[in-house]
Amino acid sequence: NLPIAIVSAMHEELGALLAQMPDEQRITVGGRDFWVGHLQGQLIVAVLSRIGKVAAATTATVLLERFGARAIVFTGVAGGLAPDVRVGDVVVATRLLQHDLDASPIFPKYEVPLTGHARFAADTEISDALAAVAADVLSDPVTLLGEKVADDFALDAPRVHRGLLISGDRFVSTAAESEALRHALPDALAVEMEGAAVAQVCHDFGVPFAAVRTISDRADDAAHGDFTRFVSSVASRYSLALVSAWLAM
Ligand code: ADE
Repeated sequence: NLPIAIVSAMHEELGALLAQMPDEQRITVGGRDFWVGHLQGQLIVAVLSRIGKVAAATTATVLLERFGARAIVFTGVAGGLAPDVRVGDVVVATRLLQHDLDASPIFPKYEVPLTGHARFAADTEISDALAAVAADVLSDPVTLLGEKVADDFALDAPRVHRGLLISGDRFVSTAAESEALRHALPDALAVEMEGAAVAQVCHDFGVPFAAVRTISDRADDAAHGDFTRFVSSVASRYSLALVSAWLAM
């Protein structure tokens, strides 16, 4: 009986879920705490990767080699890039790309050298299930967050999007930079700092991977403040609702 891994970068993104694991056992490897226990009757290992691609890849490798994870699901927040991807929406990745990887002219821009891939596919079955669950969770933001918080964030009919998620070692916090990313990668829905790195590791090991991210900001000049407000109050409620509804399926 091998565990499913649930990963977020920061405690603010996974705290509510960790609080719901009744029987967890903590195992520390590489300076990270891995919480092994149950959620919705399923064996899981939950961990905070810390921020950035290297931290995420290290964590993924430990999950696969040390814990035998049979799938990895990354959850947390992301900055919206596509015009209709708004704060409070959810993005389920179909493919993931590292936007700051460029070994050209030796390899095509964005391609991970010697893999032949720039865009790593997420597992279809898990992603389909997460998208179905997300539509359900978002259909009732008041149950998810309470009336006052849903109101504070002006969550008006939040939506689920599926498509390209991009990752890089940069918090995108200017309109100029998000515009440059939209121009370079017009099909990118959202940007974060870990997903594509974990997708690459899971590809190497042949283990299914999926990413579900809530939009905390628009990766623009207001991103810093919007991100901080979102992660400090609601991010981990989304993660818990999405992951626990998925595990209960
Ligand atoms: N995660 C959430 N918002 C982000 C942003 N604007 N840039 C990078 N990662 C993020």
